Amino acid sequence: MKALLRNIKRSMFHRLKLYPIYRVISAINSKYPLQGSVALEAFAYTGELQTRAFKKYPSYLEAWEISQDCETALRKNLPGAVIKIVDSIEEAKHCDKKFNFINVDTHQGLFGPYCENFEIFPLLFRMMQDECTVNLNVMPEASEQWRKTYPGLFNKEHLERREAFYKTGDPEHVSLEQMLATYGRIAAEKGYKIIWHYYRRRTLTYYLVLRFKKA
Ligand SMILES: C[S@@+](CC[C@H](N)C(=O)[O-])C[C@H]1O[C@@H](n2cnc3c(N)ncnc32)[C@H](O)[C@@H]1O
Repeated sequence: MKALLRNIKRSMFHRLKLYPIYRVISAINSKYPLQGSVALEAFAYTGELQTRAFKKYPSYLEAWEISQDCETALRKNLPGAVIKIVDSIEEAKHCDKKFNFINVDTHQGLFGPYCENFEIFPLLFRMMQDECTVNLNVMPEASEQWRKTYPGLFNKEHLERREAFYKTGDPEHVSLEQMLATYGRIAAEKGYKIIWHYYRRRTLTYYLVLRFKKA
């Protein structure tokens, strides 16, 4: 019963475009249209949440997900897409396809050996066309309430990894400017520059959309 109600709510929210991802996709479309894009959903789950909001646009869509349990739903929800059940960080090290839209919906904190988008982000550049839009999940801070909801969030290891990645002495508060400086510095090391960005609150996390261009 609970699952049925959740599905009805989810379906209604999608139909009415109430999820913030629809605003994000609309902002991207008004600047760099996704129609006909070569797209990658790097943390796909079943494809029924974020991917659903943009799946109609790409002429080629690839979806990566680590959980075998999601495969059947992914094939059903993303017909025509190339589905890979893989560790996305490992796959990104070897993938030879070039994309111009990459959606990176990572977990909020530590997951397995990884932390937020820190490991996958530098690997994205080897999969980018000369210009590419990347939608990242980022977390500027986390209230006490969110820390209760997700135990482990902002624990010692998480904070140390944020400190190292964003090169900050205050990993509990990372501003948009600090994020742009970090992602821009890594892009420059990889021969790209940020030519546009868009930032929007989601829940605990924010969407940070970055448009990269080969420098
Ligand atoms: C936040 S959810 C993504 C939701 C999805 N973007 C959507 O809109 O429905 C994160 C997903 O990443 C998957 N995941 C976790 N670690 C992964 C990894 N190393 N490689 C690929 N997928 C992974 C999880 O199983 C989970 O389905």
